[in-house]
Amino acid sequence: MLKFKENISLKPYNTFGIEARTKYFYKVTNSLELKDILQRNKNLPFRILGGGSNILLTKDFEGLTLLIANKGIEILEEYPETVTVEVQAGENWHEFVLWCLSRNYGGVENLALIPGGVGAAPIQNIGAYGVELASVFKSCKVLNTQTLEEETLEKKDCEFGYRSSIFKTHKKGTFIITSVCFELRQPPHNLIIEYGALRSQLKNTSPTIQEVAAAVIRIRESKLPDPKILGNSGSFFKNPVVSKTHYHRLKKTYTQLPSYPASDHHLKIPAAWLIDQLGFKGTQHGGAGVHNAQALVLVNLGEAKGKEILDLAQKIQTAVKKTFDIALEIEVNVL
Ligand code: EPU
Repeated sequence: MLKFKENISLKPYNTFGIEARTKYFYKVTNSLELKDILQRNKNLPFRILGGGSNILLTKDFEGLTLLIANKGIEILEEYPETVTVEVQAGENWHEFVLWCLSRNYGGVENLALIPGGVGAAPIQNIGAYGVELASVFKSCKVLNTQTLEEETLEKKDCEFGYRSSIFKTHKKGTFIITSVCFELRQPPHNLIIEYGALRSQLKNTSPTIQEVAAAVIRIRESKLPDPKILGNSGSFFKNPVVSKTHYHRLKKTYTQLPSYPASDHHLKIPAAWLIDQLGFKGTQHGGAGVHNAQALVLVNLGEAKGKEILDLAQKIQTAVKKTFDIALEIEVNVL
């Protein structure tokens, strides 16, 4: 594949399968090249693209799209209890999980089958079935887009929270992640298998990490549409955190309203439940739809425009606000 292209469609590069064009496109395979291209195109707006699994494209882009495609996994340190590995940002996340499973390195088994690249994983602090990326993250190498210097950020610098980090909040656009260091565990593994759906999939009480990953894969495949078949970006909204007072007020009317602990005074509510209650699940709105097995997932039913998906998202937000007085926050990056 040519590294540089002009005026191309980004449809193959976003899991929503939305048609939108970029004026310039460059496939970056190492960090020196990244620095060089940014230096030579100082006046051109640019955008970073990884696996394209957490974006919604709503318009064409008149600038330079940089596809992060640097590869490599290197073991930096290996001890009896832990192992530190450095993974280049362009590696596929799930393939990295499989690599860990084949070497019996624990910590990422619950995060199997999450689409996207390794470099994007810290941005939204990917999480599933009781585990977040932050629990195995050690540090990352970044290119500072203002100084064009390489920096190393430690875990504390990244301010990880629920589907959040500095990379999508106050430092958005400042850093391009070029590699990530993970600290994984050697056996005996510390399993996190209390999440309801996961627990019920596991027959034996002390499964291997490979069995945990297999169960996670089964659950994900049953609820989440395969983007190769039905365009989507996983959960479209974050699960809202509300005050306990608000929750108990709602619970009087909606006696089945589920919740998870969030903090001393707050609870997290599954957005999927709210959307489901309002009857959106499985519905179609032009080319956009709400997935019939998971109400939190918006789908491209064929030729949807990004704007159609966004209109549906706004319709859902308005309905949730009106009925539950909860502001749903969009989780995917709307571009
Ligand atoms: N539910 C419904 N209707 C539905 C689906 C779910 O009522 O159509 C209710 C049920 O009560 C269910 C609860 O929602 O028990 C939670 O559903 P689920 O276990 O599927 O998880 P989620 O809260 O909808 C979150 C993450 C997922 C992650 C799963 C498993 C967010 C925004 N989403 O979804 O992450 O895989 O938990 O840990 O936190 C993603 O971020 O793209 C993503 C898929």
